[in-house]
Amino acid sequence: MIRNIIAAVAVILAVWASVYMYSLDKEAHKFQRISELIKSTAMEDTKLTGVQTHPVTSAPKPKTESKSAAKEKENDELAQKLKALKEKAGNLAAFKTSPLYKKSCSSCHGNIGEGIIGPKLLGKSKEEILTALHDFKSGKRKNYVMYGLLGNMNDQQLDDLATEIATFQKKLDEATQSE
Ligand code: HEC
Repeated sequence: MIRNIIAAVAVILAVWASVYMYSLDKEAHKFQRISELIKSTAMEDTKLTGVQTHPVTSAPKPKTESKSAAKEKENDELAQKLKALKEKAGNLAAFKTSPLYKKSCSSCHGNIGEGIIGPKLLGKSKEEILTALHDFKSGKRKNYVMYGLLGNMNDQQLDDLATEIATFQKKLDEATQSE
């Protein structure tokens, strides 16, 4: 009898362990895909930063050689958006963001929160942003990208980020006025 129980427990443990390993594997895969995504957008970012250094008037219309027309259109739209922002802001480089935002968020949300892969954050209040960050972190709002990113950030960092992002619109407005 005892033997049977031990055997049953062993089977349950074995099944649980393999399910657990499988989910770990899936999770690891997910993170790998996310970091690849971040890497690829980071490259896109430097390309666009290059465009920004050209004077607006002589900036060539960015022509990408990408095979897929959809991708090309996407790149074009993005470059146009950034160009428009640049004209409006005078100089995008004047936007100094914290190292944390630059490193962890700008690749998807843009240098000043204008939105790339991730939604536009410009114009959102600190409360809206902070609530979203806490909801992503707790899993109340389901998004693997944001969940994975915020997992090891503490409340202070979330607060700092929300405070900072909420100033982007004001910074943009001020830059426009000072032209
Ligand atoms: C890999 C791309 C990526 C990165 C990096 C990223 N985000 Fe996001 N973010 C997203 C996506 C995609 C969504 C939309 C998720 C949804 O609505 O479910 C999002 C949503 C958000 C939202 C909610 C916006 C809304 O309209 O409700 C906030 C706030 C946010 N991100 C802040 C941040 C901050 C702060 C960082 C840096 C710590 C960051 N994000 C990094 C992709 C990213």
